[in-house]
Amino acid sequence: MNKIAIIGAGRVGESTAQILAKEELCRELVLLDIHEGMPQGVALDIQESASLLRFDTRVTGATDPAAIAGADIIIVTAGIPRKPGMSRSDVLGTNLSIIDKIVADALEHAPDAMLIMVTNPVDVLTWYAWQKSGWPRHRVFGQSGALDTARMTSFIAMETGYSIKDISALVLGGHGDAMVPLPRFTDIAGIPITHFLSEERIHQINQRTRQGGGEILALKQHSSAYDSPAAAVAIMVDAISHNRRRILPCVSVLDGEYGQHDIAMGVPAVLTETGLTDIIELQLNADEQAAFQASADIVAADIAALR
Ligand code: 2OP
Repeated sequence: MNKIAIIGAGRVGESTAQILAKEELCRELVLLDIHEGMPQGVALDIQESASLLRFDTRVTGATDPAAIAGADIIIVTAGIPRKPGMSRSDVLGTNLSIIDKIVADALEHAPDAMLIMVTNPVDVLTWYAWQKSGWPRHRVFGQSGALDTARMTSFIAMETGYSIKDISALVLGGHGDAMVPLPRFTDIAGIPITHFLSEERIHQINQRTRQGGGEILALKQHSSAYDSPAAAVAIMVDAISHNRRRILPCVSVLDGEYGQHDIAMGVPAVLTETGLTDIIELQLNADEQAAFQASADIVAADIAALR
């Protein structure tokens, strides 16, 4: 990748920029924000760590949307975060108008870019950005499954004491409390999770995963999570910039897959240098399919309110 733009120089934007710069996932990284001075300050701070962390990425900040011109990837983190007690859907109204402006800027200044949506409610806003931009779905997708799966993986490592490097988990569905952790597709070193944990412990891990974002917000009170969301975005960018063909759960626009149409939600997808090129359809059992449908119904209700 030559150029990546991050829209929103808040905590998720800044943390994402730090990782992308340090990992040298692009030559040029631009942080864009509406608050004059803030993106420039964040960018300069990161840039000044370059000689210590040994990276060549050039990091700049701007308030003029023209600064995103020529970006290969636009990562959208701008928006208001939820406060304790709010659901992700509660911030939809405010964040919609922010996405309107960002999509308009992308169409004007970087019409060939990919959009990676991070702002919540991410499923609805990914669908909205896809609609508004008119871009094909392989260029408009969102982050949530990489984070939700990372949380589930962490909880399994904490519970079992085994290396997190040997744990592979999977969480699908919308990025809300109805998301769908899939223990049947979860293993430690290829050994099914049921070998290590009782049904009851697995159930508790599923519940904690569903409420993972809320758990952090309740602890911190004044901020949602940002380090792990940023790492999740970075893993997606790494897959794209190295054309790895990694299979990661991503918020994807569905066109019949999993029995869903005209919606965006988390499913396993293949990330390549041209974006989200394939969706992997799993054979879900009846319980898993019912949980997936319940999650889809919640996302669909928010989308229906926008039509
Ligand atoms: C989370 O799950 C903020 O939605 C984000 O932490």
